[in-house]
Amino acid sequence: MIDQTVVAERFEREFGCAGQLSWVPGRVNLIGDHVDYCGGAVLPMPVQCGTTVAVRATTRGVVRCVSANMTNARVEVRCAEPAALPSGSWGRFVAGAVGVLSGAGIHIAGADVVVAGDIPGSGLSSSASLSVALLFGLARSAERELEGVALALAAQRIEHDYVGVQCGLMDQAAVVLSRADCALWFDCLDYRHRSIPVDATIEIVVADTGRARRLVDSQYNARLEETGRAAAQLGTERARLARFGLAAFEERAAGIDDPIAYRRARHVVREAARVAQAVDALAARDWPLLGRLFDASHVSLRDDFAVSCDELDLLAALLRDEPGCYGARMTGAGFGGNVVALFDRGRGAAALVAIADRYRARCGAVPTGFVARSLGGVRSIDG
Ligand code: GLA
Repeated sequence: MIDQTVVAERFEREFGCAGQLSWVPGRVNLIGDHVDYCGGAVLPMPVQCGTTVAVRATTRGVVRCVSANMTNARVEVRCAEPAALPSGSWGRFVAGAVGVLSGAGIHIAGADVVVAGDIPGSGLSSSASLSVALLFGLARSAERELEGVALALAAQRIEHDYVGVQCGLMDQAAVVLSRADCALWFDCLDYRHRSIPVDATIEIVVADTGRARRLVDSQYNARLEETGRAAAQLGTERARLARFGLAAFEERAAGIDDPIAYRRARHVVREAARVAQAVDALAARDWPLLGRLFDASHVSLRDDFAVSCDELDLLAALLRDEPGCYGARMTGAGFGGNVVALFDRGRGAAALVAIADRYRARCGAVPTGFVARSLGGVRSIDG
C-alpha cells in the first residue's frame, strides 16, 4: 500500500491545506474471466496495491486534480461541463466522476484532488480502482455517501460513458465489495455477493508478463459482439449467456452455425460452471481441484476465447511446473497483463525467482510478481 503520509504531504504542498484520504485496492481475478458481461458469477480478490486520493471540497466550480505518479500531470474539470475534456487523457476519469456523480444527484461545487497509485503493470484493474477512488473521495468531500453496488455501477458508468470501454462489472464490484482476507463471489446478473475466506495455508501469486495489453479494447469489443451473436443463435441475450447451463448448451449448440461464436459461447458456459466448482473447492480447501480449474480456465481462454498470448501461456506453464503450485491461468481481459497461480503458502516467491531466467530467455523481459494479500475494498483512511 502507498505510504499515505506521502500523499497527505503532497496535497498540503499543492493546495496548502489538508485533504481527506481514501484508498481503493486493485484486484486479481481468481477465476471467471469474460463471463461478467454475459451474466455469470466471478471470483476476484483485491490486492494490496491500489489508488489513494486526497480530496478537499471547494466552491470554485472546478475540480483541480494532480497525479502524484506523473510529472506535472494536472487536469481541471469544470463542474458544470464535465464532458468537455479531450478524449484519451486520464482526465476523462476525473470528468467522468464529476459527471456520473451529478447524474446520481451528487453535485460537486468544486474540489482539489491528489491521486496516487501503486498498481503495477496492466491488468490489475487500475482504472476501476481510480474510478472508485475519485467517486468515493469526491462524494465524501460533498458530505454524501455512495457505496456498495451503487458505487460499483457508478464506476462502470465512467468506463462506459466517458472512457469508452464497454466492460462488465467484475472489477468495480471487486474493489468496492471485498473484505479483508477474502475473495469475492459476485453474481454479475443479480448482484448477489458473498465473501469467501482465502485459507492461510495457500497463497495467490500474481505474475506480470511485462507485456502491455495490446489490442485489448478492440478485441474486447469483438468478444462482446461474438458472444452476443452466439446468444442470439441460442435464443437468449448476451447478458444471460452464462446462465445457459452446460447440459442445455450441449443440447442446443448444434443451432450455432458460426464456429467462432460457438467456441466463444462454449468458453462462457464452461467458465461459469468452473466458477461454481471453484467456490466449493475454495471452501472445501481442495487445492488440487482448484488448481485443475485454474488450468482448465487457461486452456479455455486460450483456445475457445482466444484472449491469451505467448507470454501468458509461457508464464502460466513455467509457474505450473514449480514445486508447490496447484495451477495457473491468465487473469483479466488477456492479450498481455498477468497470470494468477495457486501455491502452497511460502512457495510462491521462490517460484518467481526460479522461473525468471527461463522466461527472460524466451520473452526478453523479467517477470515481476508478488503474493497477493486482501486488505478489503474501498475505505476512508481518516475519520
Ligand atoms: C476486464 C473487464 C472486466 C472483465 C475482464 C475479463 O478486466 O474490465 O469487466 O470482463 O476484463 O474477465
